[in-house]
Amino acid sequence: MSEFVYRNGVLHAEQTPMTTIAENFGTPCYVYSRAAIEQNWRAFEEQLPAPHQACYAVKANSNLAVLQVLALMGAGFDVVSGGEIARVLQAGGDAGKIVFSGVGKSRSEIEYALDAGIAQFNVESSAELERISEIASARQLVARVSLRVNPDVDAKTHPYIATGLEANKFGIPMGEAMQTYRLAAGLPGLQVIGADCHIGSQLTEIEPFLDAMDRMLQLIDKLAAEGIQLTHLDMGGGLGVAYADEKPPAVADYIQALLGKLVDHPQLALYLEPGRAIVANAGVMLTRVEYIKESEKKDFVIVDAGMNDMLRPSLYQAFHEILNVREQSPSRSKPADIVGPVCETGDFLGHNRTITASAGDLLAVKSAGAYGFAMSSNYNTRVRPAELMVDGDQVHIIRQREQLEQLWQSEHLLP
Ligand code: LLP
Repeated sequence: MSEFVYRNGVLHAEQTPMTTIAENFGTPCYVYSRAAIEQNWRAFEEQLPAPHQACYAVKANSNLAVLQVLALMGAGFDVVSGGEIARVLQAGGDAGKIVFSGVGKSRSEIEYALDAGIAQFNVESSAELERISEIASARQLVARVSLRVNPDVDAKTHPYIATGLEANKFGIPMGEAMQTYRLAAGLPGLQVIGADCHIGSQLTEIEPFLDAMDRMLQLIDKLAAEGIQLTHLDMGGGLGVAYADEKPPAVADYIQALLGKLVDHPQLALYLEPGRAIVANAGVMLTRVEYIKESEKKDFVIVDAGMNDMLRPSLYQAFHEILNVREQSPSRSKPADIVGPVCETGDFLGHNRTITASAGDLLAVKSAGAYGFAMSSNYNTRVRPAELMVDGDQVHIIRQREQLEQLWQSEHLLP
């Protein structure tokens, strides 16, 4: 159930009208629903009893309060930098439930992660294995490692996976996996516990996950035959959400299908790294219309949020539904582009929309909780927006709108 609904003609986040939020906190801003985050998390957690474990992919939305809500529910976390580890710890997350992914882990990040006592490194190359081994040995610690393998799921069969095959930078090719595991098993300071993959993001079918899982299980069986016994299988993130009319599988169906493949492997704990599925539909971006610019063929609705605040439409031509906060019948005769103030043609939030809007109206860009604020920037010297967490009829400010001076506080004039 969505936590963003119209009541008496006004869009609400839980019990709170968006109009009140805009009056009190200004625009643009991101508005998250705590109940929605919790509901989305519970859907994963309930299907994954111990030793299985869901690890929220921090990159999707790394605000401390978002991490805190999840930490309070006992979440695990998937991180891709030392900075993300620090955020998780700052928010009260359990280091013992952190998995560390990413192709380019630096020495200092590995040291930091080892000292913090994270659960496992998802290792992407032999060189990284050797680096972790060396650092762990020097500290007389043992690093638990999984190897990230590229299962090479056939993109031709499943063309909607944008990142399945192109991800050559990611993981160890399946053909090299056995020899890399042998290397890992012989290195000091390492305990080889698992296998890991991540085949792409915003997947709306279960089949590619199942294909990948079959390939990973075959690998795990071959390793077992050589005496390398794994206890963890991490199938990454990637479950899609509905931005428009996509019909992604229900979380329970997705996880049950994966668990169904494990009946012959009772020793394996299934790890998942959902990001988008936890936060995308738990957030909207609120923006105000500055001007309407009319032309013969099409109108422009110029709003106070731009590509620096919300990059997905510009970067991926991603579709986000845009609603007028005051419920309108969609009666616009000419289509309108919803555009921002940034000086780029690619600065838009939506093309060819039928939304009715006048100057001063508030618009809500839906499904903005994942990869929204997290990908924002200060381009055009624009302060990044405030972030708010609604909890029933309470609104908490979880990130202040930036102040202009903050933008140049680390810069120096020449003497
Ligand atoms: N695990 C790994 C290793 C990943 O690389 C990712 C996402 C995830 C988990 C989480 O995937 P999710 O469940 O959120 O699909 N900026 C893009 C998405 C990039 C995803 C990168 N990796 C967007 O806005 O659509």
